[in-house]
Amino acid sequence: MERELSLETLLQHLGEEEPFPYGSVTPPIVQSSLFTAQTLRDRNARQGANEYGYTYTRVSNPTVRLAEQKLAVLEGTEDALCFGSGMAAIASAILTFAESGAHVVCVETVYPPTRALLTSWLARYAVQTTFVSGECVEEFEQAIQPHTRLIYLESPSSLYFRLQDLRAVSELARAHGILTLCDNSWATPIFQNPHALGVDIVLHSASKYLGGHSDLLAGVAAGRREHIEPIRQTRELLGGILDPHAGWLLLRGLRTLPVRMERAHKSGLQVAEWLSVQPQIAKVNHPGLPTHPQHPLARAQMHGYGSLFSFETHPITEEQAYTFAERLHLFRFGCSWGGYESLLLGWAQTEPDAHGKASWLFRLYVGLENPDDLIRDLQEAIDALNP
Ligand SMILES: Cc1ncc(COP(=O)(O)O)c(C=O)c1O
Repeated sequence: MERELSLETLLQHLGEEEPFPYGSVTPPIVQSSLFTAQTLRDRNARQGANEYGYTYTRVSNPTVRLAEQKLAVLEGTEDALCFGSGMAAIASAILTFAESGAHVVCVETVYPPTRALLTSWLARYAVQTTFVSGECVEEFEQAIQPHTRLIYLESPSSLYFRLQDLRAVSELARAHGILTLCDNSWATPIFQNPHALGVDIVLHSASKYLGGHSDLLAGVAAGRREHIEPIRQTRELLGGILDPHAGWLLLRGLRTLPVRMERAHKSGLQVAEWLSVQPQIAKVNHPGLPTHPQHPLARAQMHGYGSLFSFETHPITEEQAYTFAERLHLFRFGCSWGGYESLLLGWAQTEPDAHGKASWLFRLYVGLENPDDLIRDLQEAIDALNP
């Protein structure tokens, strides 16, 4: 189907030109581990595949494949692969290209398990990683070594929501023959297309916005066929493919992604703007606010914003921080995000001073509730944070 159709339309129609069995509106969940051929002769002639191109679900599955086709169109890439979690996608992509003795350059505020994979796990195979703040391209340039194979980006990055200049870093990497990978979970393909800016492989935790309902774990790797094919082989060997049932849930989530993201953008900004003028709050880390140091870059490389951000308090006691959280009624306390429910996490980010006070960092996820209700809830709790 042609790309001239808008993404919203393609999301509904792509790969669904033929009616599904029984005229069903939704695609079938092909819950089969195995795909058989009509004859052994046919099977051997097709290197093990049947007449539809399928062999075994660890290799590929029709329900998962439909999700992959839609994701490739969303990311504007030649192909995409789905995994059983975001970490399975990230690990499979990194393991495919970081051979023993390779060097990786990575942003220091990357999602912590990705950092752990590089430092504690891949270090065992002599893969070395240099971490950079990622805020200027010169830092990447200085970190590059003769055996650098990968530059790993996450823009905006976890917790402080700092950006990397995706176009400039990709250009630099290409000039050195280095592959670029970017975790795009926060902005989603609705608001940021790293591949169009030159990034080779785009990664997602689809457990977040792409799934959108806090009911599945999934991951995505998208890029050119020359990169996706070796990652597909890694997926087959490590067994990280998405389960067909979760693939079906992901397809359902994708159908509403554009409308959910439009709402996330507006609600997230509304709550962030309100927080930014509260005297109890020292700083709000949201790339969509003009006070964010990289706001011009955010405007240049994204078309909208996710609704996960953080804010920092003036020095307060632990008791004050927990009282604030306990007064909230509409926020739950948990580590994921991207679903319909609003969430809060928080911890002291400095050592306590002589009065037992420290600056706290709260990470807030604005869900699909009415933002006016969320602001009222925060308003009723925020006095607890008076310095
Ligand atoms: C930015 C980011 N990337 C990757 C992941 C990992 O995804 P998953 O939990 O689906 O393995 C997460 C999960 O929290 C995340 O926040």
